Amino acid sequence: MGAIKASRAFTSRPKIAKVEGAYHGLYDYAEVSQTAKPDAWGAVDKPNSVPVAHGTPTKALDDVVIIPFNDIPRARAILDQHKGQIACVLLDLMPHRVGLRPAEADFVEFLREWTTKDESLLVLDEVITFRSTYSGAQGWYNIQPDLTALGKMIGGGFPVGAIAGRADVMDVMNPLAKKVLFPHSGTFSANPITMTAGLVSMLDFDEEAVDQVNALAARAIEGINEAIAETGIKACVTGGGSMFRVHLKEHPPINYREAYTTAQENARLVVLLDNIFDEDSLMINTCAAVMATTMHDTDIDALVAALKTGFAEIE
Ligand SMILES: Cc1ncc(COP(=O)(O)O)c(C=O)c1O
Repeated sequence: MGAIKASRAFTSRPKIAKVEGAYHGLYDYAEVSQTAKPDAWGAVDKPNSVPVAHGTPTKALDDVVIIPFNDIPRARAILDQHKGQIACVLLDLMPHRVGLRPAEADFVEFLREWTTKDESLLVLDEVITFRSTYSGAQGWYNIQPDLTALGKMIGGGFPVGAIAGRADVMDVMNPLAKKVLFPHSGTFSANPITMTAGLVSMLDFDEEAVDQVNALAARAIEGINEAIAETGIKACVTGGGSMFRVHLKEHPPINYREAYTTAQENARLVVLLDNIFDEDSLMINTCAAVMATTMHDTDIDALVAALKTGFAEIE
């Protein structure tokens, strides 16, 4: 929310653009089309702005432009219709609900070029992906965002959110400015416990820790691919850095519509996840996982073994 409001304050423009299916929090504008379903999502060339919360004002929907992930021609055609009106393009470089697959480099570069030309901002949502390299998932690409939204691990387990970026954009929140364009404060602002836990966590966040958790995910992905091959199940695994997601689909999804799970897939996922739980591991309902420095190879091997038993059961 803060990054969107800062972008609006900096550009004096109302609209934002975001990827269909991506989760960016509960702000009315940020959540549009996060859970769009086939009967409402509209044509692929012109995805509808679909509300999540009942009662979302239509005016909020009108100010959110939805683009498909990893699809430059369609994204360009859609964005071009809103030239000069967009405050920012909001992008998670590996959006979980869109398939947990890193954005293609040319898509990211296209969005960087388009926003620069349009004098709108590119905002990277690294609330989850910051853990991917020592410089976040943006370390995978040759681009510089205008703003980056951070959260989760920078709070060391406590609720936190932060925005970082270009000094002139950040200045809209400068409390010492003559006129503060985006006044910003709240109950959680500068909470001393969060700040202390976050500092300790960030001091522990180094290249070595990143390599450690990324190696765990690489081990898991390799083991899961072997389990898929050995059981013959139509499934695949996507991910990057220290995260991965198992799909009960033959091919890795490239966008939200491909990643969307059918009722049949959901039923099979429940069996798979119950099986994992019975074997003393736990994955969230999308069958995704995030590695921690407290985990060991043995935890990964146990998870892979549990997944393999589950694959065999549902196959
Ligand atoms: C990728 C991503 N972006 C944004 C958010 C929202 O953060 P907040 O709850 O601080 O608004 C989340 C929260 O889970 C998230 O996962």
